[in-house]
This record gives sequence, C-alpha cells and structure tokens, in this order.
Amino acid sequence: MFNIQEIMLTRQQIQARVAELGKQIETDYEGKSPLMICILKGSIIFFADLIRQINLNLTIDTMIVSSYGDSMTTSGVLNIVKDLSESLVEQDVIVVEDIIDTGTTMTNLKKHFEKHGINSFKVVSLLDKPSRRRSNFKADYIGFEIPDKFIVGYGLDFAEEYRNLPDICILNNLE
Ligand code: IMP
Ligand code: MG
Repeated sequence: MFNIQEIMLTRQQIQARVAELGKQIETDYEGKSPLMICILKGSIIFFADLIRQINLNLTIDTMIVSSYGDSMTTSGVLNIVKDLSESLVEQDVIVVEDIIDTGTTMTNLKKHFEKHGINSFKVVSLLDKPSRRRSNFKADYIGFEIPDKFIVGYGLDFAEEYRNLPDICILNNLE
C-alpha cells in the first residue's frame, strides 16, 4: 500500500519557480526561435506552464523516450517510443524534462540529438536528484534540487497514477 503523506512543493512554489525559469529562458534566447521539446508523459504539465511564461516565437514538439541498459554504467541505450514530428536541423533545441534522476535518459538523448545537425542543445528540468546521478549530466536550467525521495504529482507518476495532483508530493510506502 502506498499513501501520499507530505507535500514537498506546493502549487504556489512551483508556479513561482516556473515563472522565473521562463523569464530566464526568454532572456537567454532573445532574438531566437527555440524548438521546445516536451518529454512525455511526465513533463506535460510543467511544459504547458513553462511555455506560457516565455514570450518568444518558439515552436514545440513532443517525444516519448526511455533508457534501457546496464544501470551500473552511463552507456544505456535510448528507446524512442514516440519520435518528433519536426526537423532538428539548425534548431536551438530546449528539452523540457520533469526530473533528472540517474541522468541516463538525458545523456543518451543528447548523444542522439547531436547526430541531427542541431544548432544548440539545452535541457530544462523542473527537478533534479543529484544524489542519484550515474553520469556527469547536468541540466542547464533546474527548478528545484530535491533529496532522494520518490515523488509524484504535477505530471510525475507512480505506475501511471497521481500525475494529476496539483502539488509535488512524497510517496511513502506504508507496508
Ligand atoms: P533518469 O535520469 O534516466 O534516471 O530518468 C529520469 C526519469 O525517471 C524521469 O523522467 C522520471 O520519469 C523517472 N523518475 C525518476 N525519479 C522519479 C520520481 O521520484 N518520481 C517519478 N518519476 C521519477
Ligand atoms: Mg520522464
């Protein structure tokens, strides 16, 4: 049995930080038209909120990825479940991720994108769990650094549930 016990980040804290991240990206990409890529499904809510805080002529696309492979090394294999519909050639790509955990997914995605003639590549992640890192991956923009707790809500799931919770909550095992 699992139970939601504590709120880690309230919806108000999240909104305030998302607005700051949006303004920072807007400043950094002034005069550019970045392609913002939502990594489904976990980033869907963060993405929807973030892009509305960025006053630029941006375009969007979505992707579903997972990482297979040896969890003891950083050399996992990227599994593209749903690919982009837009070309990456000469794009200023901003990947929008929910959480960087081991870093394996983003390390592999970066390698994959670098083969496609992109102009630049940056990652914005709402959450970062640096204590769990298995590679030296670092996101360019981070919303919140969090301790090693399993969290759900605001897009993040446990077994596909809890994505619709408005706050980010710690999932505790009651057994
Ligand atoms: P990694 O960085 O390759 O280990 O993968 C990160 C992915 O693992 C995220 O995009 C999430 O889908 C998932 N994940 C990691 N930690 C959590 C958590 O605390 N709650 C929900 N999903 C998580
Ligand atoms: Mg994810």
